[in-house]
Amino acid sequence: MTQLYDIIKVPDAVLKETAHAVETITPDIQKQMDRMLDTMYDAPGIGLAANQVGLLNRVLVMDLSRRDEEEEAAPIFMVNPEIIHESEEMSIMEEGCLSIPQQYADVERPAIVRVKYIDYDGKQAELEATGLLSHCVQHEIDHLNGTLFIDYLSSLKRNMILRKVEKMKKQNIL
Ligand code: NI
Repeated sequence: MTQLYDIIKVPDAVLKETAHAVETITPDIQKQMDRMLDTMYDAPGIGLAANQVGLLNRVLVMDLSRRDEEEEAAPIFMVNPEIIHESEEMSIMEEGCLSIPQQYADVERPAIVRVKYIDYDGKQAELEATGLLSHCVQHEIDHLNGTLFIDYLSSLKRNMILRKVEKMKKQNIL
């Protein structure tokens, strides 16, 4: 296992920054993807974006496989992901975030998205995502643009969640 990153929690400013496009897939970028994937598995989570480990490049990793049920790992690595189509149909699903631990809320997003990206080996790729994968990829791309799922909630709900995380931090639960 590679060395893990620390996952940055709200209200750190890096979570509000826009990450920059990656120009070429170098061994360093691949190493970053490996480390991000291991960090995500360790957390555990199903998605992680570069901002969450303090890096401002457009890299994200996901894996929705049920590894606890002995399914094989199915990691997806995306560099410079871009949504090229979204359905008019919407979907509401409960979301959480490794940067906002133990807090969950319903978020409404386009039900189906088509994403163009560069894969682990530097090849152009496309993915059509529905269901949980659609929510996950949109959530992670949001991270690269400095947007968190709580930004879709009312300020009342958002502040309540931020206060809860702050309280847990003070009690050293996180
Ligand atoms: Ni997140």
